[in-house]
Amino acid sequence: MDNNVNVEQILESMSLKQKIEQLTQVLFRKKNYEALKERISKESIGSIIAGLDIGIGGPECLKMINELQRISVEKHGIPILYSRDVIYGHRIIYPIPLAMSSAFYPELVQKCYECIGEEAVNDGLRWSFSPMLDVSRDPRWGRIIEGPGEDPYLGEKYAEAAVKGFQGTGETAKVAACAKHYVGYGASEGGRDYHRTEISDYNLRNYYLRAFRAAVKSDCLTVMSSFNEISGQPATSSKYLLTDVLKEEFEFKGFVVSDFGAVEQLVRQGVAQDRQEAACLAINAGLDMDMADGCYHEELEKAVTDGRVPMETIDEAVRRVLRVKVKLGLFEKPYVTPKPVDMEVHRRLAREMASESIVLLKNENKALPLSGNEKLIVVGDMAHDKRSILGGWVLDFDLNESVSVMEGIRAACETAQYYDYSDGNHRMMSEGDAVIVVIGESHVITGEASTVADIELTDAQKEMIYQARKMNRKVIGVMCFGRPRALQSVEDMFDAIVWAWHGGSQLGNAVADILFGKVSPSGRLAVTLPRVNGQIPIFYNCPPSGRDVDGYYGVETLYKNYYDVEGTPLYPFGYGLSYAEFSYSVPVTDRREVSLEALKSGEKFQISVSVKNVCDVASKEVVQCYIRDCYSSMTRPIRELKGFEKSMFQPGEEKTITFSLGYEELGFYGANGKYVVEPGEFCVYVGQNCLCKEYVSIKVV
Ligand code: NOJ
Repeated sequence: MDNNVNVEQILESMSLKQKIEQLTQVLFRKKNYEALKERISKESIGSIIAGLDIGIGGPECLKMINELQRISVEKHGIPILYSRDVIYGHRIIYPIPLAMSSAFYPELVQKCYECIGEEAVNDGLRWSFSPMLDVSRDPRWGRIIEGPGEDPYLGEKYAEAAVKGFQGTGETAKVAACAKHYVGYGASEGGRDYHRTEISDYNLRNYYLRAFRAAVKSDCLTVMSSFNEISGQPATSSKYLLTDVLKEEFEFKGFVVSDFGAVEQLVRQGVAQDRQEAACLAINAGLDMDMADGCYHEELEKAVTDGRVPMETIDEAVRRVLRVKVKLGLFEKPYVTPKPVDMEVHRRLAREMASESIVLLKNENKALPLSGNEKLIVVGDMAHDKRSILGGWVLDFDLNESVSVMEGIRAACETAQYYDYSDGNHRMMSEGDAVIVVIGESHVITGEASTVADIELTDAQKEMIYQARKMNRKVIGVMCFGRPRALQSVEDMFDAIVWAWHGGSQLGNAVADILFGKVSPSGRLAVTLPRVNGQIPIFYNCPPSGRDVDGYYGVETLYKNYYDVEGTPLYPFGYGLSYAEFSYSVPVTDRREVSLEALKSGEKFQISVSVKNVCDVASKEVVQCYIRDCYSSMTRPIRELKGFEKSMFQPGEEKTITFSLGYEELGFYGANGKYVVEPGEFCVYVGQNCLCKEYVSIKVV
């Protein structure tokens, strides 16, 4: 934090042109270095986004960045904010965010972002376009990998952890986080990227906005507006979303940056006649910085002079940008000097995070863990993959850090043998005590602009699984995917299924830790796994149907929604097995009734459950707490996650797990957009996933 810098004074001394320069972000490619130097010696720029060719910067880039900074500071007295997409890793890559969210372990997520930030800062980066907080229910959408999944509460926890991890909690922020994409991008129709979305205000507030609100509450320094339109209004030009909700209602004090080229995009979207109108619409809506398309830079000066944009609007945007620079301490320490990083600590953390996020979907007859003394045959190209396991939204990584699944298995069991399936002599698979089938998807079909229409496995993958099953050995599936896949057609071919995600640089070691029982699995699905394509969208937190059809995951109803498939998903939200078994008591509450007044004044009530590890394997368990608001002015979900606790249980250990619920947890945004807790009965469920049945009820009076 630059305590001696007076933002108002700087603002007063600036010309209109200089102010607009602060609202401009410029793309930096190595080949443009000389041109950029020249530009900065003539005019300042607010921020630089590092282009694709920058990679892991290293000393050469750092020298360039420090030089650009020197020119800016010496000529203009204002430092440049240097930025990049450091989404879930820099050199060492952690699991994709959807996987990290599935660890149900925000404390560890925070540590990961601390370490990611540590590596990024050494390359001069003080602003990262992460965390991505888009709730998504559509596995076809490639960007589902980048977000925390389908649940707003999990999204809130992810947001808090990532923001704290990046920014730190001290006076000076280490790396400015950027909550994106504000908002609703995850609802792209049909999973088509950059597509329209149709979201009612009720759903926007109760599902899509919540993680953003949590990020703002955690002092997130920046927010990125999204490409998409919502019900006819592009987010980039929505005064309602950017100013009324974000800045006024949520009291966001940082600045909003557009997505790449999104201001200019308003012309293509047909709501602006030309670039000048696009710039006016965006800045007047509350969008402070223009990413890379130059609309603000070229058009705003005239627009202000012509009275199309008030000077106060420009001042307020500049004030916000400068405040973030002050918070980062950039005025006092504009240059970066790399600090030593203990990469071994980062490697260990990436391994831990990957194993915490792996979800054991099936384990018939305790097929897992393996003892390591079996004769193991490994099939599937994915076993040797080192790139796709890093996922689709990493610009930077050190491939030498990547441990393939096969390498991980070999390190734990030297005798494990890889069988090249393309050789056609499938008999070899019958020589093993168990066949480990490693399948997955390429990172190329996940991430931005990488939608798929079909989430079934490929015919070749299915064929390989059938062949493995035919050999009549134990068949273990290790699945390295970024998105949910529809596994119904193959699920019963497996004795065990390990859902390993695109789990990052240490995935191979983490998979081995799970397969050989060094770690008992404790990941739980942050997103529902459907049976077949046609079930999309399928998500857990939806309201009841008024009829006897299977509105909620198809359970406990008379009639089916589909004639040709169960209404239930293959694996529900929150689901995941471990190597231990747990017994749960019925939840109890410390009172049967609580007054609305007491809740409003901050009182909480407690829900406790006794959980016991009833077997001889130590394991973590994720105890989950859901509510149902049984009677309310609007339909409310049958289950809403409101708390979870991940905790280690030794063999035979029993613990009481307590959740505190209050005003924050019981309410929703009603028809008028206002948050409300309504009197009436609430059922509080505690269990192992969103289908848990045991509950206790409490009345709000
Ligand atoms: C477009 C993406 O939507 C966004 O997530 C990213 O931060 C920007 N490009 C900058 O690369």
